[in-house]
Amino acid sequence: MNYTTIQEIDSLQEWVNEAIAIKKNPLQNKALGENKTLGMLFFNPSLRTRLSTQKAALNLGMNVMVMNFTNEGWTLEFEDGSIMDQGASEHIKEAAQVVSQYCDIIAIRAFAELKDKEKDNAETVLSGFLKYATVPIVNMESATGHPLQALADAITMEEHKTVHRPKVVLSWAPHPKALPQAVANSFVQMMQLQDADFVITHPEGYELNPEITKDSKIEYDQNKAFENADFIYTKNWSSYKEYGKVTNTDPNWTVTAEKMQLTNTAKFMHCLPVRRNVIVADEVIDNANSIVIEQANNRTYAAQLVLQKILEEIR
Ligand code: CP
Repeated sequence: MNYTTIQEIDSLQEWVNEAIAIKKNPLQNKALGENKTLGMLFFNPSLRTRLSTQKAALNLGMNVMVMNFTNEGWTLEFEDGSIMDQGASEHIKEAAQVVSQYCDIIAIRAFAELKDKEKDNAETVLSGFLKYATVPIVNMESATGHPLQALADAITMEEHKTVHRPKVVLSWAPHPKALPQAVANSFVQMMQLQDADFVITHPEGYELNPEITKDSKIEYDQNKAFENADFIYTKNWSSYKEYGKVTNTDPNWTVTAEKMQLTNTAKFMHCLPVRRNVIVADEVIDNANSIVIEQANNRTYAAQLVLQKILEEIR
């Protein structure tokens, strides 16, 4: 089994329950990963994903190897049949097969470059490893998705929901730099597996890929979207329509205490890292209803569940 999109989850509720059980006794399967190696390949920076996935593997008794391709690896070529007389030194065909000999599971982080929509949608790096690696692949945030984050988000909401069918709002917020849509995409896909009143709010022009949002409700009035919400999940993403562009930095979209007052004492969530007083006001993220630190903690148990399922299959 691979874990590359949230859609690979057969029963979200069961996975969430299993992750919560792991959280109660994280070392219960310490023998499962004995003599197995997780290789973590980073084409982009990370704090949470790197440490929580490593922690998860250690909880399962695995060995872990980490490589930062940005400054340590050869530049890879991903196109089949290419004449490699430019910058790339090694083809994914050899690289993926070679790494597969050293590792029992390969986890990859490779963000969208936000220059070419088709190339990003093709998931060049992840697809290359899926094609040529001979061991299971885990997505640690790819061009279009961050399924480990979305699973951790589902666990966190399960722990904090006070009604059976909560109102959950995914709210765009401003950011000075162009960020990928990956976190928002996986959050939307995860919410489509939930029994919830789910609303996406963003300025016009910031619609996510319609193949992902499908019939999820979109509300362009952020204040209206926030009314009676139980969870506010905030994230910036760059425009999908004007691909990779920052076309709006309106500070009126920043999540403030005033906006949170419109909600049903909503819990505030963000995947982190977050720019304070740009995405969210200090008074919101420092409030008792902010659950961002617990959300980050649940990254370990989401990753541990995924690794555990793979180990059970390959042992
Ligand atoms: N949320 C998240 O993926 O954090 P990092 O980029 O620090 O890994």
